[in-house]
Amino acid sequence: MYYLKLKNNFSITDKITCREEKVFFGVRQPNNTHLGFRYNYADVENIEKYFSIIPERFRKGFTLLSLHIVLSRPETLPPHIDVNVLCCINFYVRADNVKTQFYSIKDDLNATTPWSDVVGLTFNLENLSEAGSFNASNGEVYLLNTSIPHSVTALNGFADRLVLSIQTEKFTFNEVKEMLEETGSIQINE
Ligand SMILES: [Fe+2]
Repeated sequence: MYYLKLKNNFSITDKITCREEKVFFGVRQPNNTHLGFRYNYADVENIEKYFSIIPERFRKGFTLLSLHIVLSRPETLPPHIDVNVLCCINFYVRADNVKTQFYSIKDDLNATTPWSDVVGLTFNLENLSEAGSFNASNGEVYLLNTSIPHSVTALNGFADRLVLSIQTEKFTFNEVKEMLEETGSIQINE
């Protein structure tokens, strides 16, 4: 399975504070702006509200980050898998018009090429078949299987997207899916 949409939306008006940078890919620009994406460790007011979707006994296995993606020529982050992240729960603060596309791998052999040490592996499109995709709206929340190749495309040619992301390198997509079922955050049998 590639992704799951959570039942409830979170309209995020709580203040998000970025701490140190975890991953950056792209071009840095003046005034602390950038093209590409940037993950920062983050704090958010009322943090317990967001973590309430995870049973308390598992919460230590998750980290809160802010993800700021700016896409413009190229307007696509190519198919890749994330480094040291098995899956993440994304709260779309400012979603913009962006398509997240997942792929199945047609041919395992030579499918990957190194993209960047910090980002992960990128894939040649000819080795992939398009699988599920979604276009998130503001306030929606998704569980994403980031260990499966995925790309991100700004459908208007430009996007400025802000995401609050709860990530884990400890639990698999299916394990987190069970946690979300336990807290009633997703429909069972969805
Ligand atoms: Fe990714």
